[in-house]
Amino acid sequence: MDAFVIHGGNRLRGRQRIHGAKNAALPQMAAALLTDEPVVLKDVSDLADVRNMGRLLTALGCQVSIEPEGPNWSVNLHVTDRSPVEAHYDVMRTMRASFCVLGPLLASRGRARVSMPGGCNIGDRPVDLHLRGLHALGAQIKLEGGYIIAEADRLRGGRIFLGGPFGTTVLGTANVMCAATRANGVTVIESAACEPEVTDLADLLNKMGARIEGAGSPRITIEGVDRLHGAEHTIIPDRIEAATYIMAAAITNGDVVLDNCPIDALGAVLDRLAEIGVEVESVDGQSGHNAADQMRQTVRIASNRRLNPVQVVTQPHPGFPTDLQAQIMALLCLADGNSVITEKIFPDRFLHVAELLRMGAQLVRNGPTVLVAGIRHLSGAPVMASDLRASAGLVLAGLAAQGTTIVDRVYHLDRGYEKMETVLQQLGADIERVDADAL
Ligand code: EPZ
Repeated sequence: MDAFVIHGGNRLRGRQRIHGAKNAALPQMAAALLTDEPVVLKDVSDLADVRNMGRLLTALGCQVSIEPEGPNWSVNLHVTDRSPVEAHYDVMRTMRASFCVLGPLLASRGRARVSMPGGCNIGDRPVDLHLRGLHALGAQIKLEGGYIIAEADRLRGGRIFLGGPFGTTVLGTANVMCAATRANGVTVIESAACEPEVTDLADLLNKMGARIEGAGSPRITIEGVDRLHGAEHTIIPDRIEAATYIMAAAITNGDVVLDNCPIDALGAVLDRLAEIGVEVESVDGQSGHNAADQMRQTVRIASNRRLNPVQVVTQPHPGFPTDLQAQIMALLCLADGNSVITEKIFPDRFLHVAELLRMGAQLVRNGPTVLVAGIRHLSGAPVMASDLRASAGLVLAGLAAQGTTIVDRVYHLDRGYEKMETVLQQLGADIERVDADAL
């Protein structure tokens, strides 16, 4: 298994382009099941999750090719066999987003047998809201041997409330929205997820002939159509990757320019960073003020040596994203005072806490809240986290720590960050991928 060896202390300097968003690409790949015509997705990151989704779609009768196009990747998807309806556990267990094939399969093939999904080890991850939404569209649903079996001759539009105890559901909104595009009549989703990845999925579906309004707000209206056609779509840049590298620059007191940075999707993050003392300013490129321009900005990150402590509460978009909680915790470990971080989406998503403690961090967890007492230095140590974003937080800590940090099991990072070690090397970090067994 691969590990990263990081010799901390280098200031990051240089320029990087942000890749296409993983969490936008995955449900959009699944949406290709809704049509028999080709769907082409551009600016997709070359990630383990993308390749696994490709494997799953191949098994579901879709021809998949992932090809380089300039510095980016293009994914071509074309359904040629509509008979398979079964999504097996071997792929489904690798990532949660695979569950997004359920809605498209049901809408286009009338039946789906889909394994309950796996994914990061970040606490209980039920799918009740997905199923409630599809049931409201007229699907018959049962659970048998770890598989969801869903059937409907023709889905029918309905009113659906998708709020749960921890807010709304991102992939649940994607699943129900996809299914409703081909239902008979109008569907209204209340308490829909407002994440930019949902809006980007709606943009693709509308290019395919769907009639969706309101995506990006808590109420989405979908007028069902008989068929969808092929389309070409460029994926939005990855807000989580962008913010991770912004924080990597900040934690090393660096001077970094990022191209293709979706600042329109990062309001809450930039607000917290500004209070910490990290300035993220647009420098050139697309200088317009409309939302589309603000999704592809060139920004420069400059930070004061002194980091102020802050309070952070994770919330559904447009609040502070749970997918950046570990990274900002690493940053706040070096703040000048006490910070408080509260996790409201996945209250047990704290696998990084025990590992940061090994690096000398001063953290006290109480349920979904962690008190972070700022210290002057972290010290390098062997660490490991069984979760993608927790691992990213540990890499950030390692970049700033005194001495050597070994982050084990980086296959978690490979699920969500394209060649993270190469990006960081190009920015001047002393980081290397090694075979952990050879250490
Ligand atoms: C998406 O997961 C993301 N994954 C996650 O990113 C992200 O952390 C999460 O949204 C929240 O922003 C992808 O987009 C592939 P949810 P998702 O359904 O959709 C509860 C990463 O690191 N819930 O919005 O699966 C749930 O337990 C990944 O890239 C129910 O109760 O998350 C949680 O508390 C990790 N019932 C809350 O809702 C349901 O049926 C939000 O989960 C579904 C969810």
